[in-house]
Amino acid sequence: MPDGKSFSPSPEFASQAIAKPEIYAAAKSDRLAFWAEQARALHWAKPFTEILDWSHAPVARWFDDGELNVSYNCLDRHVIAGHGDRIALYFEGEPGDRREISYAELTREVKKCANVLTRLGVGKGDRVAIYLPMIPEAVITMLAVARLGAIHSVVFGGFSADALATRINDADVRVVVTADGGYRKGKASALKPAVDEALANDRCPTVEQVLVVKRTGEDVVWNDQDHWWHDEMAKASDEHEAQAFPSEQELFILYTSGTTGAPKGILHTSGGYLTQAAYTHKNIFDLHPETDVYWCTADVGWITGHSYVVYGPLANGASQVIYEGTPDAPHPGRWWEIIERYKVSIFYTAPTAIRSFMKLGREIPDKFDLSSLRVLGSVGEPINPEAWLWYRSAIGGDKCPVVDTWWQTETGAIMVSPLPGITSLKPGSAQTPVPGIEIKIVNEEGEEVPRGEAGLLTITEPWPSMLRGIWRNPGRFHEAYWSRFEGQYFAGDGAKFDDDGDIWLLGRVDDVMNVSGHRLSTAEIESSLVGHPWVAEAAVVGASDEITGQAVVAFVILRLDQVEAAGEAENISKILREQVSKDIGPIARPRQIMVVAELPKTRSGKIMRRLLRDVAEGRPVGDVTTLADTSVMSVISAKLADGASD
Ligand code: PRX
Repeated sequence: MPDGKSFSPSPEFASQAIAKPEIYAAAKSDRLAFWAEQARALHWAKPFTEILDWSHAPVARWFDDGELNVSYNCLDRHVIAGHGDRIALYFEGEPGDRREISYAELTREVKKCANVLTRLGVGKGDRVAIYLPMIPEAVITMLAVARLGAIHSVVFGGFSADALATRINDADVRVVVTADGGYRKGKASALKPAVDEALANDRCPTVEQVLVVKRTGEDVVWNDQDHWWHDEMAKASDEHEAQAFPSEQELFILYTSGTTGAPKGILHTSGGYLTQAAYTHKNIFDLHPETDVYWCTADVGWITGHSYVVYGPLANGASQVIYEGTPDAPHPGRWWEIIERYKVSIFYTAPTAIRSFMKLGREIPDKFDLSSLRVLGSVGEPINPEAWLWYRSAIGGDKCPVVDTWWQTETGAIMVSPLPGITSLKPGSAQTPVPGIEIKIVNEEGEEVPRGEAGLLTITEPWPSMLRGIWRNPGRFHEAYWSRFEGQYFAGDGAKFDDDGDIWLLGRVDDVMNVSGHRLSTAEIESSLVGHPWVAEAAVVGASDEITGQAVVAFVILRLDQVEAAGEAENISKILREQVSKDIGPIARPRQIMVVAELPKTRSGKIMRRLLRDVAEGRPVGDVTTLADTSVMSVISAKLADGASD
């Protein structure tokens, strides 16, 4: 019952929960033995005897002498254990088409796909780019790549051709798997043209073959290296024996935004990653695979889709829903209709989605039977207590625990979260390090801050699913995460412990923005803007936004002669927003472009984004004493007050 500020687990929930209170003591008393025990829940073709080799810190080697096949762990072993008939995927397409795929069928499809990829030349260590909508083929391809000991690089379908080409070239991708298109917001949305554009004029010379899923049936341009998925799969054998690979075999690269321009290829490996993805998924969502129906709304283009749609749930033999489309197509109750239809019992989504539903009103979820729900999760950005309480009440029927899970692309799996059968839940707080994880909150000097005081979140001990590096960039790996505090991983997030010792995440402390739970780099958007001939200088900030958490606001100094020559002065904003959409993708398109005469800079020439954020959020501008020219901010603010932005 709520005691005013927290919600304790019900006795029924607690008594049946997977995680028991002893789990914390077990992890504390011998952390490495605890992780080894979690790892042994997987199938190892060759059992490991070493747990952690940290002698090459900060590159960890977990379970180094063990061998396993990740795909076998997610598929074959469940079939062998007699669960072949269990539904692995309940797929719901946006137009309303449905497919139920059992573990036996999924295993067969993945085996066939592994044979197709082998025929297309994919072998151990090769990179395969996956640029697909949220359809079963995305999951099948990821598992097929993993089965071969190859490395996938999933590129979110909302990224542009240019962004795709950058990612393909950074990883020397050999094969691209895509689709003609997918369905979004009630209509077919093409994908293949972006692949064609990325590969045109030999821009991506390493790509040898393209495999194309027919999803929408729209016309596509056909090139020499293209192959239809259905043709290749029809020819392929469904026999494929999974070979065991070393625990540290690379599993995937996933690009994410950092503080500087180019996206970082975050590298994850096999045994440790799968261990922590499966362990957290089971314990934090209290998964009972025989009876639960789980649904995580993330796209496989993000880390949440990797760890909590593909690897965690499938390693645990879960039955789960995957949905192709947007939450409001064709009606605003679509998600709740899906929960009702499949009797979803565990639901995992982002605060942005919760806030937009909250704005629409609870009449919409109230029309559906959501009584199957038992556990709710939140991820991607801080969840405000109001949204947390609404989620628990309007969606969770005032009975479901809400677990706020903090983690990152780099951490691979959840790091801070309550455990639903143990923790007394506090709205808005991620609360406790997951058993096995050691967190500190420190000041700029690396000293621990007292309770109640804000500081920087660091992780002080290696963890199994930690990134093993940035693809082909060890220097940047060291610099970005390990250089600030000796021997500690610096996450880039502010945080504090409250008086009870619970953790509250306070948002990024660097130039990374979080828009609808998607990570965007200010530098990357600035470099897109200055790539336009009209723009002399640009500064981008994340301004707080009621629904999306943050929104992209850009300040630009124009080359007026160029704008005048083009005769398009009234379209500046539209054209610059398009530029960002083309370079990166629609998710990065600024909400607002503000044209200014100057930008606030320190004497050393660094843009003071803090001041621009004040302006973008309509606050009085803070301390300007470190500015080279202290009058700049009053000029910008006055101009904006006149309504003279874009
Ligand atoms: O700032 C934190 C925020 O999202 C960042 C990681 O983004 P990404 O790598 O894209 O992964 C998102 C999904 C795991 C973090 O540095 N973040 C993520 N979850 C939370 C969060 N901030 C507050 N509370 C969370 N639960």
